[in-house]
Parts: sequence; structure tokens; C-alpha cells
Amino acid sequence: MRWHEMASRSDVAGGQAFGVVLAIKMSLALEASAVASPNKSCDTIDYGYRCSPETSHFWGQYSLWFAVPSDTETKPRDTEPPHGCVVTFASVLSRHGGRDPTLGKSLLYKLLIAEIQNTSTQYPEEFAFLKDYQYTLGADQLTDAGRREMVNSGAHFYRRYSGLVDDNPPFVRSAGQARVMESAEKWLIGLAQAAKQSAPGTIDVTIPEGREWNNTLSHDVCPAFLDGPKPGTDAQGIWIDEFVPPIKDRVNSRLGTNISAVQTVYLMDLCSFETVAHPSAEMSPFCDLFTEKEWHEYDYYQSLGKYYGYGNGHPLAPTQGVGYVNELLARLTEMPVQDHTNTNTTLDSDPATFPLDRKVYADFSHDNDMSDIFAALGIYNSTEPLSNTTVMSIEETNGYSAAWTVPFAARMYVEKLKCHGDDEDFVRIIINDRVIPLEFCSADKHGRCKLSKFVESQSFARSGGLWDLCFVET
Ligand SMILES: *[C@@H]1O[C@H](CO)[C@@H](O)[C@H](O)[C@H]1NC(C)=O
Ligand SMILES: *[C@@H]1O[C@H](CO)[C@@H](O)[C@H](O)[C@H]1NC(C)=O
Ligand SMILES: *[C@@H]1O[C@H](CO)[C@@H](O)[C@H](O)[C@H]1NC(C)=O
Ligand SMILES: *[C@@H]1O[C@H](CO)[C@@H](O)[C@H](O)[C@H]1NC(C)=O
Ligand SMILES: *[C@@H]1O[C@H](CO)[C@@H](O)[C@H](O)[C@H]1NC(C)=O
Ligand SMILES: *[C@@H]1O[C@H](CO)[C@@H](O)[C@H](O)[C@H]1NC(C)=O
Repeated sequence: MRWHEMASRSDVAGGQAFGVVLAIKMSLALEASAVASPNKSCDTIDYGYRCSPETSHFWGQYSLWFAVPSDTETKPRDTEPPHGCVVTFASVLSRHGGRDPTLGKSLLYKLLIAEIQNTSTQYPEEFAFLKDYQYTLGADQLTDAGRREMVNSGAHFYRRYSGLVDDNPPFVRSAGQARVMESAEKWLIGLAQAAKQSAPGTIDVTIPEGREWNNTLSHDVCPAFLDGPKPGTDAQGIWIDEFVPPIKDRVNSRLGTNISAVQTVYLMDLCSFETVAHPSAEMSPFCDLFTEKEWHEYDYYQSLGKYYGYGNGHPLAPTQGVGYVNELLARLTEMPVQDHTNTNTTLDSDPATFPLDRKVYADFSHDNDMSDIFAALGIYNSTEPLSNTTVMSIEETNGYSAAWTVPFAARMYVEKLKCHGDDEDFVRIIINDRVIPLEFCSADKHGRCKLSKFVESQSFARSGGLWDLCFVET
């Protein structure tokens, strides 16, 4: 298995022994049932994660999915089609559900706990649980809470689009990593359960991930990006120096430890990962170690990483999302894909692997790829460049934050609508239940643009998305 190879290849001290622990944990986790008891849960089909929203909706891309409010005027259930319209096409682009930390991080978190337990002199009040806490998180794979998010996501999609989905089963593609494919499968189970179908559908196309694959759901073929500067990490480095020192000093003075600024951020990461690992009603005690203000600062740290790493703040991010946008335009207009970036022409020219006449599509991917795609679409073009030295609120960023855009089980719906009295179809984009105000194609108050206007607005993708910049030596 892939994670096991990674564990064995790891050169981090103790990696190999830790890999064995992971192996045991992982095989147990894989046997566990996908759907936990729904009644006691913080997670719900309609609204996602609802416990302690004043902090849990500020965990950056490690937030569990939650329904984000719209700022269009179509309240209260703004995502329903406007009066007189029916949805004739629906596509979803989804991130995988909640997972354990990536392998490298999981090892670093384990070391951090060992260091704290080695060096602390006391465990006052809210820190008391740390004395006997044992680090048991695995690596890379979905957790049970993450599986349930995806089952709920399939049901959420069905509830919204049942009229369409009943007659038009989704055409499903997935990027090749295990957690992404399993997410697609769980989503299909949730959809089938909600539709009271006897058997769930299956993934139609799996596209492998890696530098040798053209894959619009996993961007790995732009060398200037892969080997170039890392403005996301740079921006986070500036912000970490601003917000972490007081938090670090408090933790160290309370515990008698000497953990670093980066380790302080790791301690905050554990709030989300421990919560995602245990699908109970309770949030992890790690969450109580930090204040509401500190969670907002942390969320902003993660947003900076996405914005300058994979969003409008990175010159090559939009370029890498162009292939997917051109595929989306092909599906919306039922015309062959026109793209010379990272689409696989073999797959996209074959109706068996890229049909153009379906009404419902579902694609499964990762947060970074989705961020690139949002940038290619121009969704956050009106967001001012994020400051590296002060928290900008969600209003100030025009709805851009890692938690609002790419939490676990994040989803972008693209709809085509047929509306009474209009000959031309409309397009709407809904990200995590927030109707996106598509200013660039003259959207109305319901967030609707004419299909032709929407296609016109996507000139960046249609004209090649500056793909040549991927091959400029830096
Ligand atoms: C913890 O202490 C032991 C014994 O002093 C030492 O061998 C080990 O390296 C320490 N581990 C960490 C993570 O500090
Ligand atoms: C494109 O897809 C085909 C069919 O799956 C595969 O054989 C080929 O290796 C892929 N090429 C690239 C560059 O991804
Ligand atoms: C934030 O930092 C990044 C990386 O150093 C830089 O590219 C960007 O221009 C900075 N943004 C602002 C608003 O200063
Ligand atoms: C704490 O760690 C820093 C490096 O992160 C080191 O420079 C400093 O000397 C350490 N302080 C103590 C009291 O060990
Ligand atoms: C993969 O993408 C590259 C770069 O655009 C292109 O030259 C190549 O033809 C593509 N391969 C396939 C199989 O689509
Ligand atoms: C977003 O901004 C980029 C860079 O200025 C531009 O090329 C693109 O056309 C814009 N997208 C939309 C949809 O307006």
C-alpha cells in the first residue's frame, strides 16, 4: 500500500517503527463502519459541522465542512433555484473528507507531544489532559468523521438536486489517491441512501496523480510552479512572527516547556486533527487551549498559505486550474474540450471517459487543486491581496478564507438553470453553499449569469491560461 511504502522510505528518525504502528491503526480504521450514529453528532447533512462555530469554523482547510451563508438577496434558503427556474445541469467538484495528518506532519506531531511530555514541569488546568495524552493518529487516510462527511455530502447533493439526479446518474471522476477515491465512494453511498436506491453508483474514471500524469484533478505537471518560489510559505512565515509569540510564550510559561513558534502552530493543528479523528459530539481538549481571537489568527495563517500558495496570490496558481475550467466549459456547452494545458487529450476526446451529454457530474480532488481552479475561474478576483501582517476579516477578503473555500469535504456546485420567460440558460456557482456573486459576468441578485456571458468571462482559460510560463526557467 502506498502509505506503507512512504512510511518505509521516510528518513525521519523513528519513521519505520512508527510506520508499523500506523499499519495496525490503518487496517483497524479501514474496517470501521462508515456511518456513525447520526443523532449525537455535531455534523449534519444540511448544515455540516455545527458545534462551537465561533472557533470550529476557523480551522482553515482543516475545518470540517459547514454551510457558508450567501450574501445574495435570496434568503433564507438561498441555494434553492430562483423562482421560476429549474436546474438542468449540476456539477460538483469536491475535496476529500477529513483525514489524518499527512505522514510527515504526523511524525512531527508525535515528536512534539514527546518533547512536551519530556520537558514540561506542570500541567495546569486546561493543560491537564496532556499529561496522559497518547498520540495515536495515523497518516493520510480518511477518518471515520471524514467518511461520514462524504456520506452526508452525497445526501446533501441529492437533497438539492433530486429532481435532476433521479433521472440522470452522475458521471464520476476521481484523482488517484486512496483518500480521494474513498471519498468518491462514500459520496456515492450517501447519494444512494438519500435516493433510496439499492446500490450506489461507481467511479467512472480514476486519473492517477504524479508528475507523469496530465490530471485536471491533481496538478503536478507545471515545473516552474513545482520547483519555483514558495510565496505561500513566505507569507505564512511573516504572519507567524506576528501572531504566534504571545501564544507560544503563554503555552511555554504554563507548561514549563520551550516549544518553538512552528510547534505552537502544530499544537493548534492537533485541535482539528484530534476532533476529526474521533467522530463524537465532543471537540478535542486541544481546542480549549486557545482563545477565539487566536483561532481567527490561526485561520488567517492557513488562508495566507492557500492564497499565496495556490490562489490569486501565486502567479502560476490560476494557470494550473485552467484545464479543469476548460473541461467545465465543455460540459456546460456540450462542446469538445479545447485545452492545451494539463488535460489528458486521450481521456477527454473519448465519450466513454469524457462524455458531453450528461446532466450531472461529480469530480473528487484536493484543496490545493480546488484553490487553483477557483483562481482560474476568477472567483476571488475582487479580493484585495491579503495582508501578511494583520488579520483581514471575511468581509474584507470578499468571502475568501481557507475555511470558507477548501475545508474538508469542500464542494463547488456549478448549475445550469432554465428559467421561465428566458430563452438562454443561466449559470450559478455555489461554493460550500454560498452563492458566489459572479460580478464578472453581470450576475443578478440571485447570482445568475447568462451562459454566454459566463463563457465569455472565462477568457483566461479559453486563451490558454499562460501555460507557457510553466516552462520558463526561474
Ligand atoms: C525524551 O527524553 C529521552 C530521555 O531523556 C530522550 O532520549 C528523548 O530523545 C527525548 N525525546 C524528545 C522528543 O525530546
Ligand atoms: C492519458 O490517459 C491515458 C488513458 O488513461 C493514459 O494511457 C496516458 O498515460 C495518459 N497520459 C498522460 C500524460 O497523463
Ligand atoms: C505577502 O507576502 C508574500 C510572500 O512574501 C508576498 O508575495 C506578498 O506580496 C505579500 N503581500 C502583501 C500584501 O504585502
Ligand atoms: C529555547 O529554544 C530556543 C531555540 O528554539 C533556544 O535558542 C533557547 O536557548 C531555548 N531556551 C531554553 C531556556 O532552553
Ligand atoms: C499532457 O500535457 C502536455 C502539456 O500540455 C501536452 O503536451 C501533452 O500532449 C498532454 N498529453 C496528453 C496525453 O494529453
Ligand atoms: C481574473 O483576473 C485575471 C488576472 O487579472 C484575468 O486574467 C481574468 O480574466 C479574470 N477573470 C475573470 C473571470 O474576470
